[in-house]
Amino acid sequence: MSDAAGAVLAALLEARTGQHLTMSRRWRIETALQSLLRERGFASLDSLVAALVGKHDGALADDVVDALLNNETFFYRDRPSFDQLLGQGLERMRKLRAGQRTLSIWSAGCSSGQEAYSLAIHFAEQKARWEGWKIDILGTDVSRGAIERARGGLYSQFEIQRGLPVMQMIRWFEEYPAASWRVVPAIRGAVRFHVHNVLGPPPCPGAVDVILCRNVLLYFSPQMRRAAFERLAEAGREDSILMLGAGETVSGHSQRFVQDPECRGLYLRSGAARVRGEEGRLRAAS
Ligand SMILES: C[S@@+](CC[C@H](N)C(=O)[O-])C[C@H]1O[C@@H](n2cnc3c(N)ncnc32)[C@H](O)[C@@H]1O
Repeated sequence: MSDAAGAVLAALLEARTGQHLTMSRRWRIETALQSLLRERGFASLDSLVAALVGKHDGALADDVVDALLNNETFFYRDRPSFDQLLGQGLERMRKLRAGQRTLSIWSAGCSSGQEAYSLAIHFAEQKARWEGWKIDILGTDVSRGAIERARGGLYSQFEIQRGLPVMQMIRWFEEYPAASWRVVPAIRGAVRFHVHNVLGPPPCPGAVDVILCRNVLLYFSPQMRRAAFERLAEAGREDSILMLGAGETVSGHSQRFVQDPECRGLYLRSGAARVRGEEGRLRAAS
């Protein structure tokens, strides 16, 4: 691949998704686009780029972007921090929303749906605890292919074994031909999936209680990451919580969120953290 072709493809990816492919990560392009080249009958990446630039083939550009995205995911990813969210994080939300008994959860950058289905399985297994609650789980991703897969809820033997204990696999998935497994309708029906870019206006502004945006912003440029945090802050209610991936932080990237003092790995909207801190001081003083 010529440097010029690499630059065109990297620029396309960044313009569409915010993902910044540094020079040292450009090698990914060749690997990621191999099967697309074969399917579309291009002899080389340079000829693919020529078609992209010359013919403005919208569908081709969509497919290129989809293929360049890293969709790595698995059930209950980063289990210790996920468990913290399911335990401490959701328990706090249960108290905060006890009046209206509604909870809105957004898995932003959900890839093929494992994160959102992990949440739906958790609520199904904690049914008695959430009796009478309306739980809305929304999974979104900029990749059309990933969202189609998520909606289908069909996973290979390899994917189903990643992170999912056997008992949950048997209970919540049905065996399918060609060694695959499909999420049971009750769980599939508990999650909505939409194509959405985290850099765009949020799907339900000011209405989300829990936002997961894990392993999505890792390769954003600082400027794009700041913009994405702004969007996530717009999406959440004043007292919402944000969860990032295990190796990610808001520190140095956004002032809209601060580390949750009670729960490592979770973040609070800045204003809400201040209010909570003052409440804590008032309680301690009385
Ligand atoms: C590495 S996967 C992480 C999936 C899941 N959140 C997890 O942690 O297992 C990153 C996902 O973010 C999506 N993504 C990348 N840029 C995005 C953007 N600008 N808006 C929405 N999704 C994006 C990719 O398509 C990919 O599916």
